[in-house]
Amino acid sequence: MTDLATFVRRLPKAELHLHIEGTLEPELAVAIARRNGIPLPYRSVDELRAAYRFADLQEFLDVYYACAGVLIEARDFYELTWAYLKRAHADNVRHTEIFFDPQTHTARGVPFTTVVDGICRALDHARDKLGLTSRLILCFLRHLDEAEAHSTLDEAIPYRDRIAGVGLDSSERGNPPSKFAEVFRRAREAGFVPVAHAGEEGPAEYVREALHILKAVRIDHGNNALDDTDLVAELVRRRIPLTVCPLSNLKLCIVDDLASHPLKRMLELGVFVTVNSDDPAYFGGYVNDNYVAVAEALGLGRTDVVQLARNSFDASLLDDADKARLVGELSVAVSSLERSEDWGDP
Ligand code: ADE
Ligand code: ZN
Repeated sequence: MTDLATFVRRLPKAELHLHIEGTLEPELAVAIARRNGIPLPYRSVDELRAAYRFADLQEFLDVYYACAGVLIEARDFYELTWAYLKRAHADNVRHTEIFFDPQTHTARGVPFTTVVDGICRALDHARDKLGLTSRLILCFLRHLDEAEAHSTLDEAIPYRDRIAGVGLDSSERGNPPSKFAEVFRRAREAGFVPVAHAGEEGPAEYVREALHILKAVRIDHGNNALDDTDLVAELVRRRIPLTVCPLSNLKLCIVDDLASHPLKRMLELGVFVTVNSDDPAYFGGYVNDNYVAVAEALGLGRTDVVQLARNSFDASLLDDADKARLVGELSVAVSSLERSEDWGDP
């Protein structure tokens, strides 16, 4: 029987929770820092990698924002994005929905258009050369105030044809979704699809606020929703997707070990879950690594793994025809694995 890693690689899939700044590998960070003459608080790639030990979300964010500070030119954003897209293609990712944090860059004087132009050039290249499609989602930084999010939205509106959605990320504790009610209302009115990080470190109530106040159509993480049975019932009834990130949860001490990750319970409860990598350069694995690690730790069967891949297309922002085409490709891959007797549940 095919080993689990090969099985996962052969499944076409989508990735729906991926911060492009979180794909900055130490080698590329050091190379771009040198090119731009930006001092990094780490002297070498090894020293930088050694800093990747986090007690919580904030410790990670401090390193993540420091490293994002090397990105200045459109070329930097292009190289960052293209490196991720090539890596995703190798994982048989057919469609990816990418978060970016413009406020991290505009606060340093990097123009909004530089960021979007660099990223979009790589996205177009991946569509043309690799057949890999994408959507771009702008995240407001929730540790900043709502007025700053409004200014960012003003900058995004002229790029409505390139930016599909808005999200909410950064330090969750003490920064509830309700703080961003008005800017999300404006964003929805302008045609952006609303999603939000909630229930990663924050309580189930933040997931409820993301759904009811921001009108989020998808929740990023959502782990702590399981503390509230009525909320779980709502997620199931409304088929709200959760974009779960197992290795991220492990690295940020959201779970003590992957064997206690809530993904299996979510599947058993009928929650619409997907598996994603979040910030793979920092968390020790890209999307396939997340599938393999969590499936092994939780004893998931291959039927569950296929369901997760199928959910990734169904939970995407693609239109119904594209979803059906990609789900069809997944079915072909599954049939081929079954025929070659590569199927088997533990
Ligand atoms: N920004 C990048 N990764 C994040 C995460 N896991 N949670 C909140 N904000 C983030
Ligand atoms: Zn995230």
